[in-house]
Amino acid sequence: MRVLSFLIMLLTLLIVKQQIKSPHGSAFKIGCATCHSTKGWYLDSTIYSFDHNTTRLPLKGQHNEITCRLCHKSLVFTDARTECNECHTDIHQGTAGSDCSRCHTPQSWLVSNINEIHRMGRFPLLGAHIMADCNDCHKSADGTRFDITGVNCIDCHRNDYNSTESPNHVKAEFSEDCSSCHPINSFQWTGAGFNHNFFALVEGHSELQCNDCHTTGKYSDTSPDCYSCHQDDYMATTNPNHTGANFPVTCNTCHSLTPGWKPANYTLHDKLSFPIYSGRHAGTWNACNICHTTSSNYSVFTCLTCHEHNKTEMDNEHQGETGYSYNSPACLNCHPTGNSDR
Ligand code: HEC
Ligand code: HEC
Ligand code: HEC
Ligand code: HEC
Ligand code: HEC
Ligand code: HEC
Ligand code: HEC
Ligand code: HEC
Ligand code: HEC
Ligand code: HEC
Ligand code: HEC
Ligand code: HEC
Ligand code: HEC
Repeated sequence: MRVLSFLIMLLTLLIVKQQIKSPHGSAFKIGCATCHSTKGWYLDSTIYSFDHNTTRLPLKGQHNEITCRLCHKSLVFTDARTECNECHTDIHQGTAGSDCSRCHTPQSWLVSNINEIHRMGRFPLLGAHIMADCNDCHKSADGTRFDITGVNCIDCHRNDYNSTESPNHVKAEFSEDCSSCHPINSFQWTGAGFNHNFFALVEGHSELQCNDCHTTGKYSDTSPDCYSCHQDDYMATTNPNHTGANFPVTCNTCHSLTPGWKPANYTLHDKLSFPIYSGRHAGTWNACNICHTTSSNYSVFTCLTCHEHNKTEMDNEHQGETGYSYNSPACLNCHPTGNSDR
């Protein structure tokens, strides 16, 4: 009985096929019985067995819930377009680009990764900008366009710049690149939101008031040159006496910002005078005055604070050396690098 009804159905379909012109196009090869039964020319879901995931648009999310015809209007299945924006109207009118799938899935139009979207663009939302409303920056009437005034601070903050009082940015001729002083991740314009890294306020320079250095009330007339602020300190030195010893006034040749000015670290000494941080004498001394016994004149030096104990041995060692004498300039003359190989 089953076999019989099956044969009847097959026969009907064959006859029908000859009479009915397929609406699916002449190139369509999939058997009619994959989708249609004898019940009629609609999609019979009880027998439907086509795997749509083999096509160029696997059906996901809401696309699984809708009828075939919404996408296949012509019923020639290959007519269907495959890009999101070929079927969906771009409500953003080009202001978000044409690749909808960067932000949307067929699940829904809601977008949860707004911060990530901005992080991948030219303007990550940081600091105060995380708290701001979309409309503060994307000023379209209906909230669907994402136009922006620009991505540079000044594009959105020109009024703030023009109305500054303390300090008056326009008068001080501060750069319009706000981010050189106001980091992009700040929550406010003042206090911790201000960035002084172009002249780091650290160590001996931390914990100072702005006007300890900016004495005139302007900000743009301050020199980063150590001597411009520390001339008095230089003049007052006694141990060593910098003026007498004729030390350079570029303090950072020997000093860091460590409070107390001590210890000094004159690494250029190795190159300019005599290796004391490298070679045989590295680690053999603990203060400059082991060699420079006259604090007010650093062209004077002695080697004999250390080498005198070996005088006899030293004289023996140098027997036959023409020009040898037991005095420091002579030692340096034959041993300019502190090495017996000369
Ligand atoms: C992959 C599934 C699939 C296959 C295979 C298939 N069809 Fe269809 N066919 C459909 C769908 C879907 C519709 C639209 C039904 C609806 O809107 O309810 C349809 C509609 C039709 C219609 C009605 C057209 C109209 O305007 O309403 C005819 C006739 C038809 N198909 C013939 C065929 C023939 C003949 C074959 C075999 C050569 C075939 N179909 C193979 C899916 C299929
Ligand atoms: C969200 C839109 C969408 C829906 C809904 C949809 N399709 Fe498709 N379908 C497509 C796209 C896009 C293609 C790929 C067209 C191409 O390759 O050119 C496709 C391809 C196909 C193909 C392969 C055509 C071929 O010859 O390669 C068949 C068959 C098909 N669809 C049948 C169906 C049927 C039956 C349904 C309903 C159960 C359906 N589709 C629902 C969009 C859809
Ligand atoms: C072949 C045409 C077609 C393509 C390609 C297509 N869609 Fe769809 N999509 C539809 C149709 C038709 C509907 C149902 C009608 C509607 O809501 O517009 C739909 C529905 C949706 C929905 C549900 C809408 C709602 O109101 O719930 C979302 C979300 C969606 N599509 C996103 C996408 C995304 C993202 C892409 C690209 C990855 C895409 N679609 C590609 C045709 C398409
Ligand atoms: C760069 C990200 C991005 C891209 C690309 C993008 N959108 Fe959107 N879209 C959004 C955001 C954000 C929303 C608001 C969603 C929310 O409120 O959760 C949105 C909302 C929508 C909505 C719902 C609007 C409403 O008022 O309910 C639709 C429809 C939509 N987009 C369609 C598209 C289409 C079509 C494309 C491709 C042409 C596209 N979008 C490209 C980010 C994007
Ligand atoms: C403080 C300002 C600001 C706020 C607040 C802001 N945005 Fe943006 N947004 C921007 C800027 C600037 C761009 C442009 C980035 C670029 O072009 O690289 C942008 C770009 C976008 C884009 C397009 C991204 C792309 O890759 O094309 C979308 C979509 C977007 N914003 C959605 C939103 C939504 C939704 C909100 C609220 C939840 C929001 N934005 C809040 C400043 C902001
Ligand atoms: C696309 C527009 C836009 C751009 C570009 C932009 N901002 Fe903003 N910014 C805003 C909006 C909107 C707010 C919140 C409303 C307000 O306070 O003006 C804000 C707030 C701030 C605040 C907090 C102000 C306060 O008093 O609460 C600071 C600080 C700030 N931005 C710094 C910057 C810096 C630095 C840049 C450049 C790296 C920048 N912004 C670029 C739009 C922008
Ligand atoms: C050369 C450094 C520098 C640059 C560049 C700079 N600022 Fe400032 N800004 C400051 C200093 C310093 C303060 C005062 C900080 C404090 O009081 O803690 C300040 C304070 C502010 C204030 C609050 C003070 C007031 O009177 O309202 C605003 C607003 C401000 N800046 C906006 C901007 C904007 C907008 C830009 C870029 C267009 C910008 N600034 C560029 C150094 C700078
Ligand atoms: C230890 C000294 C010192 C302290 C303390 C100090 N500054 Fe400065 N500041 C400088 C120097 C030096 C420069 C110049 C840097 C350069 O030109 O390279 C400078 C430059 C600036 C500039 C840039 C002016 C321009 O036109 O580019 C601003 C603004 C500024 N300081 C604000 C402040 C504020 C606000 C404070 C207090 C929070 C402060 N400074 C504390 C030494 C200091
Ligand atoms: C050639 C290296 C050198 C240069 C350049 C140099 N100093 Fe010194 N300075 C020293 C040495 C060595 C000491 C002693 C360190 C110790 O005792 O640990 C010292 C100590 C000091 C002291 C503390 C000693 C005292 O007598 O009060 C001050 C203050 C000082 N320097 C200021 C300056 C200033 C300001 C400048 C730049 C204008 C400067 N120095 C440049 C090597 C230098
Ligand atoms: C714009 C002025 C200014 C400049 C430029 C400046 N300083 Fe200072 N510095 C100060 C002020 C003000 C103090 C705190 C008062 C004091 O101790 O003299 C200070 C303190 C110090 C201290 C700590 C002194 C102590 O007794 O604890 C050191 C070390 C120092 N500065 C080194 C330097 C060096 C090295 C440079 C150059 C790289 C430099 N400073 C450039 C203004 C400046
Ligand atoms: C091991 C011995 C030794 C030590 C330690 C030493 N120096 Fe020297 N220094 C010399 C010699 C040797 C010369 C070269 C003198 C010459 O060429 O006439 C010299 C030259 C100098 C000069 C050049 C003096 C001039 O007027 O030409 C300065 C400045 C100087 N030293 C600073 C220092 C400082 C600062 C320290 C401590 C951080 C230091 N020295 C530690 C041996 C030493
Ligand atoms: C702080 C003490 C001290 C001072 C000052 C000192 N030396 Fe030395 N010197 C040493 C020590 C320690 C050695 C290593 C001895 C050893 O390795 O046997 C040494 C080794 C030497 C050697 C032998 C290197 C070798 O290869 O065997 C020479 C040459 C030398 N010093 C020359 C000098 C000259 C020139 C001066 C003066 C500019 C000087 N020294 C000042 C402590 C000093
Ligand atoms: C006229 C050149 C000359 C003078 C001046 C001179 N030296 Fe030498 N010195 C040498 C030579 C050459 C050697 C290598 C001898 C050898 O390896 O046999 C040497 C070797 C040394 C050694 C290594 C000894 C050992 O045990 O290996 C030391 C330490 C030394 N000298 C220190 C000094 C001191 C300190 C002075 C000053 C008091 C001095 N020299 C003056 C030429 C000189």
